[in-house]
Amino acid sequence: MTGTKGGGEVSIRDLSKSFTLGGRQLAVLRTLNLDVRSGECLVIVGASGSGKTTLLRILAGLEAADSGRVAIDGKPVDGVGAERAVIFQEPRLLPWLTVLGNVAFGLEVRGVAKADAEEKARFYIALVGLAEFADAFPRQLSGGMAQRVGIARALTVQPEILLLDEPLGALDAMTKIGMQEELARIWSEENVTMVMVTHDLEEAIYLADRVLILPKEKGGAARLIDVDLPRPRDRSETRFVRYREELLREFGLH
Ligand SMILES: Nc1ncnc2c1ncn2[C@@H]1O[C@H](COP(=O)(O)OP(=O)(O)OP(=O)(O)O)[C@@H](O)[C@H]1O
Ligand SMILES: [Mg+2]
Repeated sequence: MTGTKGGGEVSIRDLSKSFTLGGRQLAVLRTLNLDVRSGECLVIVGASGSGKTTLLRILAGLEAADSGRVAIDGKPVDGVGAERAVIFQEPRLLPWLTVLGNVAFGLEVRGVAKADAEEKARFYIALVGLAEFADAFPRQLSGGMAQRVGIARALTVQPEILLLDEPLGALDAMTKIGMQEELARIWSEENVTMVMVTHDLEEAIYLADRVLILPKEKGGAARLIDVDLPRPRDRSETRFVRYREELLREFGLH
């Protein structure tokens, strides 16, 4: 079931988005250009309010751009699509369904027979390490476990692109490190394109092929940093630490 597809290329051209806030135009994204390669892990960082969630929502098809183009595998994005799955900071599980029910749900609403949906769901529940909890209800799970259910649910529909908005932001530090390792493993096993927002710079370097830094100043330009480190990555390695310092400098923090 793993190592499917290929595809999952994202192309962003001259993308702009502004909001009207209290009668004033607020430019959030300005003529952004970016290509995400098939199977790449791109991590987006930037100050609060720099437009990370907005960009992810545009890629998800949940928000329309003002101008510019976004295409997936050459096809313009128009609303949500089955080749993309979104993972939010809170997993938003259905409380009346078990873990199995929640993970199978996305396939069932697409008309997949219950038995087939559940078989696939069990595979992904095992992949995120929750095989023993398939029959548990959301209220019986810890925060980290619930988030893993959310990840399994997104993977079960076998998207080409996973869009993640601070998926580990609500977790405690220890759980978070474990989940970063799991995300790295899942990403490589599933051969999926990942676009992930985080405010955790170490997490960005741990996971990313490239880090996109959105500008804080509205006149500024977005920057891309290649993270050229072997995997699995070692957080204490000199080069890892140097990348972290480079990102901190970008934020004026070092
Ligand atoms: N629906 C909306 N209506 C008006 N303004 C909005 C809307 N959505 C976002 N904004 C504005 O756009 C800007 C960028 O918001 P966005 O949520 O993309 O930031 P972010 O980088 O994800 O920040 P954070 O790190 O705090 O999550 C903010 O100034 C916000 O006020
Ligand atoms: Mg956000």
